[in-house]
Amino acid sequence: MGIAATGGGASRYDVAVVEPDARNRMRLGTHLAGAAQFQSIDELVQHLRPGRVVVAVFGPTLAVPYGFQQIQRINAAYPQLGAVLAVEEVSADVLQAAIRAGARDTVALNDAVALDQAVGRVGELLSGVSAASVPAIADTRPSPGRLIVVFSTKGGVGKSTLAINLGVVLARRTPERVALVDADLQFGDVAVMLGLPPQHTVTDAAASLQFADPELMRNLLARHESGLYVLPAPTEPILGTSLPRAELVGVCSALQAVCGYVVVDTATQFDDSVLGLVEAADDVLLVGNMDIPSVKNLKIGIQALDLAAIAGPKLRLVLNRANTQVKLDVREIEQVLGMRADFPIPSDIAVPIAVNAGVPVVVQEPKAAVTRAIEALATRLMVTDASAEVGAKRRRGRKRARA
Ligand SMILES: Nc1ncnc2c1ncn2[C@@H]1O[C@H](COP(=O)(O)OP(=O)(O)OP(=O)(O)O)[C@@H](O)[C@H]1O
Ligand SMILES: [Mg+2]
Repeated sequence: MGIAATGGGASRYDVAVVEPDARNRMRLGTHLAGAAQFQSIDELVQHLRPGRVVVAVFGPTLAVPYGFQQIQRINAAYPQLGAVLAVEEVSADVLQAAIRAGARDTVALNDAVALDQAVGRVGELLSGVSAASVPAIADTRPSPGRLIVVFSTKGGVGKSTLAINLGVVLARRTPERVALVDADLQFGDVAVMLGLPPQHTVTDAAASLQFADPELMRNLLARHESGLYVLPAPTEPILGTSLPRAELVGVCSALQAVCGYVVVDTATQFDDSVLGLVEAADDVLLVGNMDIPSVKNLKIGIQALDLAAIAGPKLRLVLNRANTQVKLDVREIEQVLGMRADFPIPSDIAVPIAVNAGVPVVVQEPKAAVTRAIEALATRLMVTDASAEVGAKRRRGRKRARA
């Protein structure tokens, strides 16, 4: 016997309530009409059907160490199971434990609306991604993945557009995980631009750093249908503040331990944390437009931050909307900035159209010139990565030969 289909309308997924306490079980059952009810995780396991997506709502009695252990186990064993935790009160401790156990959401038991939304979101997410299509990925890498930081000294120049589309291209090309981090804590719109429901965010990741747990880091990432893993900015903007440098860099290096590439979209506002990222990065993509204020801003930014000293050879100038009808010439800009503009990205109406559709332009318009330009940029970054690996191997070889 399987679990009765509920909520999700066309029964794309099942919903199950798991709670030993009868009163709590009834409360949850009232919020989630039609959900199958189980007294224990063992009982739920007996009713799981292979290949069928189920959203399992675990009640407050299971929010104890032994319960979390069991949730983690069932979560690892059944990729088609999405765990949601319903507790009396969502405290920081409970949230951490839930994330570690692999729960996709944690909500207050008496918040019927939040519970319903969480179940719907997890059900839709899991039924959209067939488990078979998720490639098996190694748990941790032998060496850290490559950190690519996208930034600019001026707003609205196309940082997020570039970061997202570059991330998608890299994710399609490499069998390893590729993560996109939205480090624009105030106005970050990566999740919106990708049409992803809000899940765990950069600030959750920073709070989890203390556990130094690669599995926890992986669980924080939301998977976009393109295969890109995303760590969004908080949905409630953190006004006037950003994460301390060590935390932001820490989140990125924790992700580098489990990802082949980590692409970071940054805020325009410059602070110590962004400089920390620039220092830690393997590639720094400095984005500018071809108008005079943008070039002036880049020039001032490069000088003020002494970027050449901090970023040196890893700094790459990306001129976005490079074909825009303006009087500035790429060569002139190169002269003013003292940098080669190797990566012109053309302006294309397909970009705003794709943004409004919530689809990355490289997915929506695979043949567009803007897509080809971003693919060329990805190729260059991947080639640099490959030669860096070869160089490192050679150096290791020489060391061994000398020893
Ligand atoms: N190559 C392009 N062709 C056409 N439109 C573009 C292109 N790149 C970006 N845009 C448009 O420019 C606007 C700003 O882009 P985006 O949000 O990526 O910039 P940003 O630098 O991240 O901005 P912010 O500083 O606000 O974070 C968007 O409306 C986007 O659709
Ligand atoms: Mg942006």
